[in-house]
Amino acid sequence: MILVLSIGGSVLDHDRDRLSGYAGVLRDLVSSNHTVFVVVGGGATARDYIGMARTFDADEAFCDLIGIAVTRLNARLLIAALGSSAYPVPPETQEDASVAALSGRIVVMGGTIPGHTTDAVAAILAEYVHADILIDATSTDGIYTKDPKKYPDAVKLDELSPARLVEIIAAEEMKAGANLPLDMLAAKIIERSGIPTVVLDGREPGQVVDAVNGARVGTCLR
Ligand code: UTP
Repeated sequence: MILVLSIGGSVLDHDRDRLSGYAGVLRDLVSSNHTVFVVVGGGATARDYIGMARTFDADEAFCDLIGIAVTRLNARLLIAALGSSAYPVPPETQEDASVAALSGRIVVMGGTIPGHTTDAVAAILAEYVHADILIDATSTDGIYTKDPKKYPDAVKLDELSPARLVEIIAAEEMKAGANLPLDMLAAKIIERSGIPTVVLDGREPGQVVDAVNGARVGTCLR
């Protein structure tokens, strides 16, 4: 199976045990003959750097480029944790990632261009490499009807259609400080590609194996 795994930066952020946990899980998946691509986010470090740049009135595209640099830094940390199991350099485009996979190693990348997040990078990569499954490892246990941090009556969804996801994101995007499970571009790519997608709790790396094995974890988009 070809797997694309998006790991939120806030899931990995400077947590050595979490990085080691993911390295173990990813190596196991490769031993079971799966082809594995990973896209790593920027997390709190990206937000810190972007916040500082904004105090100097840096424009948003400039801030995005800072964010991309941090995602690539985090990708290198996961590469360090994976050692010789990983392709040694984070590719800068989805095309380069598909070429890097010919090495037979785990390919780990960060962001690509300004204007979206690593969730969109992962969705485009999944489409480009004809992935069998896209897994989004986030810091919540799935997708809710609305932001669960703000609304106690929010309900977690075990399954939903990509079209419904697009509606939920559009409704949340209208509100300032929205806490979105995926960005709109990622949702649109998932909708058009039809790639089975699972959004799960990235704080438990073992859930990735469960999802690959077809267990019901997180929220399934199909
Ligand atoms: P993330 O993908 O980590 O953003 O990229 P996020 O989803 O907001 O944060 P976490 O990791 O889930 O907590 C960090 C920032 O880098 C820029 C954007 O500014 C983004 O907010 N970025 C990232 C890009 O502009 N393009 C990319 O391809 C990736």
